[in-house]
Amino acid sequence: MFPKINPTSTKAWSLLKNHQTDEMSSTYMKDLFSNDISRFNKFHVQQESFLFDFSKNIINERTIELLLELAEECKLKDAISAMFDGSKINETENRAVFHVGLRDFSDNKFIIDGTEVKSEINSVRNKIKHFSNDVHDGKWLGCTGERIKNIVNIGIGGSDLGPNMVCEALKPYWKKEINSFFISNVDGTNLVEVLKELNAEETLFVVASKTFTTQETMTNANSAREWFLSKMENPDFVAKHFVAISSNVSKAIEFGINENNIFEMWDWVCGRFSVYGAIGLTVSLTIGYENFEQFLKGAESADFHFKNNKFESNIPVIMGLLSIWYINFWNAKSEVILCYDQYLHKFATYMQQGFMESNGKSVDRNGQQVSYSTGIPIWGEPGTNGQHSFHQMFHQGTSMIPCDFVAPLKSHNPIGDHHTKLLSNFFAQSEALMVGKTKEVVVEELVQKGFNQSEIEKLAPFKIFEGNKPTNSILIDIIDPFNLGKLTVFYEHKIFVQGIIWNIFSFDQWGVELGKELSTYILPELNNVDETKNFSSSTNGLINYFKQNTI
Ligand code: F6P
Repeated sequence: MFPKINPTSTKAWSLLKNHQTDEMSSTYMKDLFSNDISRFNKFHVQQESFLFDFSKNIINERTIELLLELAEECKLKDAISAMFDGSKINETENRAVFHVGLRDFSDNKFIIDGTEVKSEINSVRNKIKHFSNDVHDGKWLGCTGERIKNIVNIGIGGSDLGPNMVCEALKPYWKKEINSFFISNVDGTNLVEVLKELNAEETLFVVASKTFTTQETMTNANSAREWFLSKMENPDFVAKHFVAISSNVSKAIEFGINENNIFEMWDWVCGRFSVYGAIGLTVSLTIGYENFEQFLKGAESADFHFKNNKFESNIPVIMGLLSIWYINFWNAKSEVILCYDQYLHKFATYMQQGFMESNGKSVDRNGQQVSYSTGIPIWGEPGTNGQHSFHQMFHQGTSMIPCDFVAPLKSHNPIGDHHTKLLSNFFAQSEALMVGKTKEVVVEELVQKGFNQSEIEKLAPFKIFEGNKPTNSILIDIIDPFNLGKLTVFYEHKIFVQGIIWNIFSFDQWGVELGKELSTYILPELNNVDETKNFSSSTNGLINYFKQNTI
């Protein structure tokens, strides 16, 4: 196993600190561009039809050199090998982390915990293939002989966000006559609104839960089964309309699912990285197995790049290191992913779980409180919508908010000049954020518009753009299954890079437990009329107000 190194104890960390204060804090990107016509060539990487431009960052060659040294000192190379070897790097849960195996199409065999898992992975993949094909070919029919037209994925967190994001992103590839729906929230509205549209005879429920005990998923699955039985009456029909994705086979059988229709998950696949295995069943049912396989192959190509490319041209490594640069040396407090593609409207939400559940940690791998920042909030909305709401803060706010701009070269819907307008905004935003607008330019513009001296003095400060705001730009040929797999995995490996440098465990999520635990104590309190006294006065007050007004 690789060593657990406090990044602040490395030589590179101290050098980066000095480099930031002494040199880069007073450096302007627009000067760097004017002084070096080859800056774009130096600071971009192209991998197949994927272009990653990181030249609009507050960096020079020395910054990259030092960040790469930091990666070396923190033993990133050894950590990558440990993950690809299936080592037990998820120490607090005593588990290997091997989602990369789910999209490996080589003939290599893999041993995890003494078991050869390649054949298990292949067998689940084959099961997904045959099951999806049977549904699409009309060999798997509903209990009254109707073809399945509606797929309803019931899951939450990693058992929802991955398939939901991928299905939305790949809408142009949806099978004709198949519609997919996602139910995650325990708020009954989610279930009721989805079921309103459906005919039970044509509906297949995919109950996706690694543990098969998650409160939200089990509540939704039980209510879906009640709804189904209210229409179809015969409990034997449940087996034709409910399948499960889980590692808890006995619980799924207990629910009424036929053992043959349970798609296996393993404890060495963490929920938020699970869409490449059985959790991808809904994706395969929605876009067809061939397309699902292309998605996996794109993911595999990103793995290959991450595992084999030198760090200086390794996209996820550079993404991760740049993010460390801003979080730890510039005090950035949030990062944004702006996809200029409507089909990617769930991409930032998917990545939120990936980044925030993985790297929202404050104890290092030695069990010590960290003295430096780790994960920060990730968010985003599709462009150009954000330009008319929150981009104001990127341009003129007081915080540094590094942005990633992601866009396809080609649109699936090339009507009129929509796509060129979309891309002109994409290019304009990162340029504007970098260049800004100086006082001189603002004054000159106001003069041209006929404002007098005192009006100009009054207005000018509000119209100045400081510029020098860091961005990455990612251009992808088209959002197809292969390229989506690649894009997703580049970001997922960025999470890994951050976690190793920060010396935290990225593959556990103990932070979600306390709230879950407390809600199990509170639930019974909500079902009686007695005054609640067991919690803080705030929580008691809120619960009692709820009881007084509803029970
Ligand atoms: O809330 C935490 C979590 O464990 C996530 O990590 C996971 O993706 C989600 O719950 C769903 O868990 P399960 O698949 O076991 O229902």
